Amino acid sequence: MKRKRSIAILTGGGDCPGTNAVIRAVAKKAILELGMEIIGIEDGYEGLVHRKWRKLQYEDVSGILTAGGTILGTSNKCDPYRHAVEKRGKLQFQNVSKTAISNLKKLGVECLVCIGGDGTLFIANKLYKDGVPVVAVPKTIDNDLRGTDVTFGFDTAVSIATEAIDRVHTTAQSHHRVMIVEVMGRTAGWIALYSGVAGGGDIILIPEIPYNIESITSKVRQRHRIGKRFSIVVISEGAKPKGGDVVVQKIVKDSPEQVRLGGISFVLGHQIEQATGVETRQVVLGHLQRGGCPTPTDRVLTTRLGTKAVELIEAKKFGYMAAVKGSDIVAVGLEEVAKGARNVPIKHPLIVSARAVGTCFGD
Ligand code: F6P
Repeated sequence: MKRKRSIAILTGGGDCPGTNAVIRAVAKKAILELGMEIIGIEDGYEGLVHRKWRKLQYEDVSGILTAGGTILGTSNKCDPYRHAVEKRGKLQFQNVSKTAISNLKKLGVECLVCIGGDGTLFIANKLYKDGVPVVAVPKTIDNDLRGTDVTFGFDTAVSIATEAIDRVHTTAQSHHRVMIVEVMGRTAGWIALYSGVAGGGDIILIPEIPYNIESITSKVRQRHRIGKRFSIVVISEGAKPKGGDVVVQKIVKDSPEQVRLGGISFVLGHQIEQATGVETRQVVLGHLQRGGCPTPTDRVLTTRLGTKAVELIEAKKFGYMAAVKGSDIVAVGLEEVAKGARNVPIKHPLIVSARAVGTCFGD
C-alpha cells in the first residue's frame, strides 16, 4: 500500500499572534487538497532534537484561527547547531544538528515547515543547506525581517499598543502628566512608529534615530506653553540617547540571542520629570503585545502565507519562505533573512508625515 504523503510543522522563537492561524492554513490545505498527514513538532527545534512530536488531525487545526499562542509550543532557546547543555553547573554548547536531521528523516516527511523569526529561519536555512527540504513562514511582531514587506503579528501588536496609547492619553490629560508607553521591537522601531502615529504620540523614539534629551524636554515645555499640559511619548525598547546605549533588562545565557531589552522608559521618565517638573509615568507593554487573538488583517495574511507555503512544497521550492511583496505573496530565498535586521529607514514616508503633523522624534 502506498504510504500517505506527510509534512512536519514547527513554530520557533517568541510567539506571536497569528501563529496558530498559519498552522491551520498549512495543515488544512495539505490535508484537504493533498491528502497529507501532518506531524506537529513540539517546542520548536527542541522537539526535533528530543523527538517530541504528535500527529495533527483535521480537528486539531480547526477552530484555532483566532487562538493566541501556538498549539505546538515554542522555544527561543534551542539551536541544534549550538545546543545548550548544563554540565556540572556550567553551560556547554554542542552541535546536535545531525541528531535533529536523523530524527526528522526517520519521520519520513517530505518537508519541514518552519514558522519563525530571524533565529528560527536562520537555522531553517542551515538545515536546508544540510539537505533538509524546508519551507518557511516569517513571523515576528517586530516586523524586522528582510525579504518581506511585513510579518504577521505586527498588525496585532500595533493595534494592542495603539489601544494602550489611547488609554494613557485620557489619564495623561486628566493629571496633566507626561505618559511614556514603552513598546517591544528589539533593534527596530516599527511598532513604536506605527502605534505612535496611530495613537497621536507627541514624541516617538525609535532605535534608528538616537534621541537628544533636550529636544524631548523642549517639546514637553512647548506643549505646556500652548496650553497642552500633557504629553504622550512612545518609545521602543531598543531606543537610545545620542552617544548612549540601550537599557538591557536581562541576559538569557542559554538563548542564541542573549540580550533582552527593556526599561528605557524609566530612565527617560526620570530625566523628563527632573528637567521639566512635569509629573511623568511610564508603562511597559511587554508581552501583552504578543498575546491573544490576531487582528482581521493578520488572520487574512496568515491564511495567505500558510497556503502559499504548501504551494511551495508542491512546487518543491525548498529553501524558500512565503513572503509579502506589495499586495502579493511571493517566494523569497531564506538566505535573505540572514542578511540582518530590517530597520526603519530614517526617511520612511510615515516619519515624514509624522514630522509634518508636529511629532518630535527626539533628534
Ligand atoms: O522578537 C519578539 C520579541 O517580543 C521582542 O520584541 C522582544 O525584545 C523579545 O521578543 C522578548 O523576548 P522574551 O520573550 O524572551 O522575553
